[in-house]
Amino acid sequence: MQSPSVDKPQHTRRKRAVSIVDLIGNTPLVKLSNITKDISPKVEVYAKAEWFNPGGSVKDRPAKKMIFEGIKSGELTKDKIIMDSSSGNTAIAYAMIGAALQYEVELVMPLNVNIERKKALAAYGATIIYSDPLEGSDGAIMHARKLKEENSDKYFMPDQYNNPHNPGSHYETTAPEIWEQTGGRITHFLAGLGTSGTFMGTSRRLKELNPDIEVIAIQPAEALHGLEGMKHMPTSLVPGIYKEQEADIVEFVSTENSYRVMKELLDSEGIFIGHSGGAAIYAALEKAKTLDEGVIVTVLPDAGFRYLSDGLWW
Ligand SMILES: Cc1ncc(COP(=O)(O)O)c(C=O)c1O
Repeated sequence: MQSPSVDKPQHTRRKRAVSIVDLIGNTPLVKLSNITKDISPKVEVYAKAEWFNPGGSVKDRPAKKMIFEGIKSGELTKDKIIMDSSSGNTAIAYAMIGAALQYEVELVMPLNVNIERKKALAAYGATIIYSDPLEGSDGAIMHARKLKEENSDKYFMPDQYNNPHNPGSHYETTAPEIWEQTGGRITHFLAGLGTSGTFMGTSRRLKELNPDIEVIAIQPAEALHGLEGMKHMPTSLVPGIYKEQEADIVEFVSTENSYRVMKELLDSEGIFIGHSGGAAIYAALEKAKTLDEGVIVTVLPDAGFRYLSDGLWW
């Protein structure tokens, strides 16, 4: 008798349809092979391509965890509006998840955030409340706090700068992914500091897995810089979740070097990253030059498509 035919699934990665929120995380780790040609052949440099998240940035991870934990604790109920301050990427993540879970979203951001972000938020149906552009992201933080104080029943404010679930999301997802993707061979981890969630959460878990991994935090070298999403801590409101003593090294990278490397990565690898990714790659390559062997991993928070109107590319 002929055996019955079996319909084999075409795609093994995702067998079932999923919600957009389920697609957050599990981003690819990209090996850099051309821009690294001047470093020791025994040094490998990898970058976590966080724009593969459905909201287009690393901030999908903490936004998801902070919202889900808010629901779990009973603090975020259906009648509340999700409200927070953000320079852009977290705002887009809240707006996407808010739409998927059917919550209203209001975001406080400096008036001078670029047009791509404003349009993306409008497309997701979120409301934008503008703060003074001269006060930058700190002005947006203060404004959001005031709104929450004045309307405490109306809003659920995740407060990404002080919420332990922000680093918690990276502890639970980004770090184990990197560990698995490098087969546990990672020797150095670098990430830029904004809220510091990516650096703190990922470093903490990696250090538990192997205390010898060196963790390097990256800050803008200048107080007035062009590295959107990053914070110059000495002149900023320091996030409650940031613990500088957990960084083995703090590197300061100039806007000029970041932009230059951003373009070099585009030309040499075909990878189109945002400003803070330029700082991450610059610091990773500087580290690579000092080593004879090693496995270096950094995080590329978003893609250059988010910054086209800034006019850096022509
Ligand atoms: C483009 C960009 N880079 C870097 C960061 C810093 O990430 P973190 O807030 O986890 O420190 C952010 C945060 O918003 C960002 O939007």
